[in-house]
Amino acid sequence: METLSKINKKKREKRKKKTAEVFTPNSLVNEMLDKLPEEVWEEGKTYLDPACGNGNFLIWILARKISKGHSPKEALKTVYGIDIKQDNIRECRLRLLKIISLFEDIEKEHIKIILTNIKWLNSKKWPNGSLDYDMSFKANFNQAGVDRYYDTILAGELSKVDLPVEDNDIPEKYEDIFGIQEFPDADED
Ligand SMILES: C[S@@+](CC[C@H](N)C(=O)[O-])C[C@H]1O[C@@H](n2cnc3c(N)ncnc32)[C@H](O)[C@@H]1O
Repeated sequence: METLSKINKKKREKRKKKTAEVFTPNSLVNEMLDKLPEEVWEEGKTYLDPACGNGNFLIWILARKISKGHSPKEALKTVYGIDIKQDNIRECRLRLLKIISLFEDIEKEHIKIILTNIKWLNSKKWPNGSLDYDMSFKANFNQAGVDRYYDTILAGELSKVDLPVEDNDIPEKYEDIFGIQEFPDADED
């Protein structure tokens, strides 16, 4: 049976042809994060990706923060991302929640955080995307929206997104950072 990561990889390849969008490979993300000074990992330090795509940087940053002993919820509060593509934002939010779900049950509070911190920049309001956004990250969800989102998570929405499994060249990172050797949806070949 085809694994989730293979299915998603094919979707991304197809999409790349249409949008010319290339996400940073997990190995390169980690090489870059390894170079950051230790103080950036202190509790409460925030991180913003102004063109976050499906969150390749953000998921690793969140995972690293948690692996350094930060509470998953507090770590999630410090991670920010914006993008002009709505589907990327949708996927980024789910992948961040999937990281959280490796450590604790998803609660409505987590959903409020990602709806606030991970924003789709609608071109009607922000024609130049990040260049127009004021980085205020004001919460603009309502309780009904949070409840609906939570219901989709309970119904299995997280099973549709994959974590960084396509780069099997960095298994030590899985163990160091996530505390597991392999993701459940990792490719078998
Ligand atoms: C090459 S991807 C990089 C994604 C991610 N940062 C990574 O490294 O994997 C570029 C992303 O920038 C987004 N983007 C392009 N122009 C933008 C703009 N003006 N404001 C915000 N996002 C933008 C695209 O939608 C796409 O998701």
